[in-house]
Amino acid sequence: MERVLIVEDEIHARTGLTELIESWGYKTMGAADGVEGLEKAMAWNPAIVVTDLKMPRMDGMELLSRIADLPSHMAVVMMTAQGSIESAVEAMRRGAYDYVPKPVDPLRLRTILQNASEQHADSLSEREGRRRSQYESGMLGPLVGTSEKMRAVFSLIERIAPSNVSVLVTGESGTGKELVARALHEFSSRHNKPFVAVNCAAIPETLIESEIFGHEKGAFTGALERRAGCFELAEEGTLLLDEIGEMPAATQAKLLRVLEDRKLRRLGSKSETPVDVRVVAATNKDPEQAVAAGEMRGDLYYRLNVFNIQMPPLREHVEDIVPIAHKMIVDMNERHHCSVTGITDSLLKRLMSYSWPGNVRELRNTIERATIMAGTGMLDIEHLPPQFGEVGFAPVVIKTARPGEPSAEGSRSTEVERYLEDQNTVRVEVGTTVDEAERQLILKTLMSTHNNKTKAAEILGISSKTLQNKLKEYSNNSAVVD
Ligand SMILES: Nc1ncnc2c1ncn2[C@@H]1O[C@H](COP(=O)(O)OP(=O)(O)OP(=O)(O)O)[C@@H](O)[C@H]1O
Ligand SMILES: [Mg+2]
Repeated sequence: MERVLIVEDEIHARTGLTELIESWGYKTMGAADGVEGLEKAMAWNPAIVVTDLKMPRMDGMELLSRIADLPSHMAVVMMTAQGSIESAVEAMRRGAYDYVPKPVDPLRLRTILQNASEQHADSLSEREGRRRSQYESGMLGPLVGTSEKMRAVFSLIERIAPSNVSVLVTGESGTGKELVARALHEFSSRHNKPFVAVNCAAIPETLIESEIFGHEKGAFTGALERRAGCFELAEEGTLLLDEIGEMPAATQAKLLRVLEDRKLRRLGSKSETPVDVRVVAATNKDPEQAVAAGEMRGDLYYRLNVFNIQMPPLREHVEDIVPIAHKMIVDMNERHHCSVTGITDSLLKRLMSYSWPGNVRELRNTIERATIMAGTGMLDIEHLPPQFGEVGFAPVVIKTARPGEPSAEGSRSTEVERYLEDQNTVRVEVGTTVDEAERQLILKTLMSTHNNKTKAAEILGISSKTLQNKLKEYSNNSAVVD
């Protein structure tokens, strides 16, 4: 029997509604205003909340917003004044399931409650089904892991994904913060709406506000066209504000206002537009330290940090290396047309005793190289880079800041873009030997041709035979070093 909470300050109306709704077979509870309604919603966890609009202490609109921020999903049905289109529209915009004009038409209300409870049951069983099958295979959306730590992350994601509450994801670089944001999106009712990621560190300070909030034509020199910002692009979906710690203070203040008011003003615009976006912020800094150091506004931090998902560094859940690496082998086989079948025990031991400063991203790069090197059969120690694990061994570093790159395409960095960029770049630091630089260039080129050796040789301007020899040499060398 579904539970329905009835929030109505007028006692006769409340008892009337209660009797009516109970006669249709629902379990009910009453509350006399928004404050009591919210308390009961949290404690009793009803499937549906039917609420009046005008009430003392907290009105229906405010209650609706507060309920939307709760971790469990509740369908809110707003009772609006007869003929008041504005309040009906406003309620729907804020996420109400539906509205009924007062005086309530019982037939209409009954149909609404029926639909809402069916949807509620569907979403519960669908989520439960997905959850169970994913849990068995140690996955949640794009995330893989069977360790206690990852399971704790998974269940937190599941609990808070359906709500609109802001989430702050923290953790070292490469621990999967962006994937968490994607999972939150995937497991929410917003999943078929846009997911937009913006990397605050990658955008020059002068452009960040226009990037996030959009601008009108002529808002500043160079604003030739009116342009939508990330908030508008993510309408009804999820916005990931990555590296939030790098956001300039003035922008942080504006962001806070948007989060509070759920309204947005484009640069140079006189009017405000309503926004319906779920915000997930990520940072690899310690946010409390950033607040103490004055880099992050305390009020913004508290607004974002309603829930905090802390991603553990890979060295603290090395048992996940096995499932993650296996999933990556499958991906890399497909991407590079290889047929690697697994990992030898000695390689696994080696991977599990390494400290992984670049976390899962570094693991992925390592598996990708090894898969290409091996091509087929089992991955073994000889397929690791020769200097792997040595003191001073620098993992592949992916640069995120790209100052002075004002183009729209360049500034909106996503994991995919960065990944592609990383794939197509060889970082050669002074101090690298010519042989090592050559080796890196050859491997990256091979990656870009999906392990097509003839094509790679062509691009590199060497013969296929030379390429074959080089590759053989690399495997031999690494075996010797190891
Ligand atoms: N639990 C996981 N399961 C599978 N793959 C993972 C997992 N965690 C991370 N990855 C892989 O590592 C890559 C990096 O993850 P992600 O971009 O989410 O890290 P991040 O914490 O946002 O890093 P940064 O702080 O550098 O932005 C992903 O593209 C994915 O391939
Ligand atoms: Mg990231």
